[in-house]
Amino acid sequence: MSDKATLEINGKKYEFPLVTGTENEVAIDIKTLRGVTGGVTTVDPGYKNTGSCESAITFLDGEKGILRYRGYSIEELAEKADFLEVAYLLIFGELPNQEELDKFHSDIKKHAVVDDDIKKILDAFPKSAHPMGVLASLTSALTAFNPTSVNVDSEEEMYNAIVRILGKFPILVAWTMRKKQGMPLDYGSSSLGYVENILQMMFKRPDEDYTQSKILVNALDKLLILHADHEQNCSTSTVRITGSSHAGLFVSLSAGISALWGPLHGGANQAVLEMLEAIKEDGGDTKKYMAKAKDKSDPFRLMGFGHRVYKNFDPRAKIIKVAADEVLSDLGVDDPILDIAKGLEKEALEDPYFVDRKLYPNVDFYSGIIYRAMGIPVEMFTVMFALGRLPGWIAQWKEMRTRKEPIGRPRQLYIGETYRPFKSIDKR
Ligand code: CMC
Repeated sequence: MSDKATLEINGKKYEFPLVTGTENEVAIDIKTLRGVTGGVTTVDPGYKNTGSCESAITFLDGEKGILRYRGYSIEELAEKADFLEVAYLLIFGELPNQEELDKFHSDIKKHAVVDDDIKKILDAFPKSAHPMGVLASLTSALTAFNPTSVNVDSEEEMYNAIVRILGKFPILVAWTMRKKQGMPLDYGSSSLGYVENILQMMFKRPDEDYTQSKILVNALDKLLILHADHEQNCSTSTVRITGSSHAGLFVSLSAGISALWGPLHGGANQAVLEMLEAIKEDGGDTKKYMAKAKDKSDPFRLMGFGHRVYKNFDPRAKIIKVAADEVLSDLGVDDPILDIAKGLEKEALEDPYFVDRKLYPNVDFYSGIIYRAMGIPVEMFTVMFALGRLPGWIAQWKEMRTRKEPIGRPRQLYIGETYRPFKSIDKR
């Protein structure tokens, strides 16, 4: 194969280098395009064909259904690693040995406290506030309590910023839920594992000791690992582009949380459960909703189906489907919603509309069923996604800053009015 791509514009040829990634993916390097062509640009709404960066964190092959963090398959990580190991792997590039993992956890625990004034901010939100809005605001507000900017050339300062947010973020997550439920805020316990402590902070009642359930810890650990990174998706790109202006880590994460909130992205897990609930209330008529999803005059979409990159299957969805069966059976929960979900999946996989468009269940299709069985309220589902995605966002922000990437600033093709003279108000 040639190592160059040739572009012909108005009879003039331009050559651009081809670059190949470690998994043999090929890209055309168009860094010089505007310069050599005198301003010609590219148009690619939704960035369907645009690589925004070079990255060594996550590899995914949408045709083959492959997802790997730093070279390790998602299947192996979900089975054999825990969330904190995966967080370390994503952020620092290698699986930690026991000593490194213990130090990492101990450093995180040192920062597992937030300024008490955060409670005042939390108090100011109405009970009706969506937890994602609250979480985005609190994450951004952390900057006010930790105002020193990070010198990204200092490994020590980067490390400190990372363990700080990994310590504080679960508190914000848990408090967001407890506040909504009118429960007193809880700091958990430093004697617990990272995920165990999250569960305790979320669920411990003031009048009872909290007994850890191995089933819940394992289920949450797995869900967080499956959500931990997914290369240049909408929220991650938002984190990178926000941070590319040298805005700090916490506000970049806050921007990512806002991007994740939308129903086409992380908000889909809440939307899936609401959809399944609506189908159940409507008598369980899945055929009716399949027809609505296919009807182009109806805005309804089958939530939890389809993916920008996966066009065969989403490997995370496969793992989550099995986990949903296991968790519900281990917890002794018989949820009719699981049967509706399985019925919808079966119908969709046999329906030419979904088959032709390569629409398969994605990570969000079954995750909500597990969250619900764990006792997590529907409005918190996307917050749980954010909790899982945190190490991925951190890793991507760190990579972007340490590679000294330029500020993100896409071009456009202007299609508005050409010059027109100003009209005074009496002439309009
Ligand atoms: N139900 C019905 N039709 C769909 C669906 C769906 N869920 N998803 C895509 N299509 C159709 C779409 O109408 C279009 O049809 P046509 O070619 O006839 O116009 C075709 O499939 C291609 O869809 P698209 O919207 O151009 O594809 P995209 O890559 O821009 O969007 C997506 C991907 C995930 C936004 C979309 O599949 C979707 O809206 N799915 C439902 C929401 C969802 O589950 N999101 C979670 C994504 S995975 C986790 C995450 O990212 O956070």
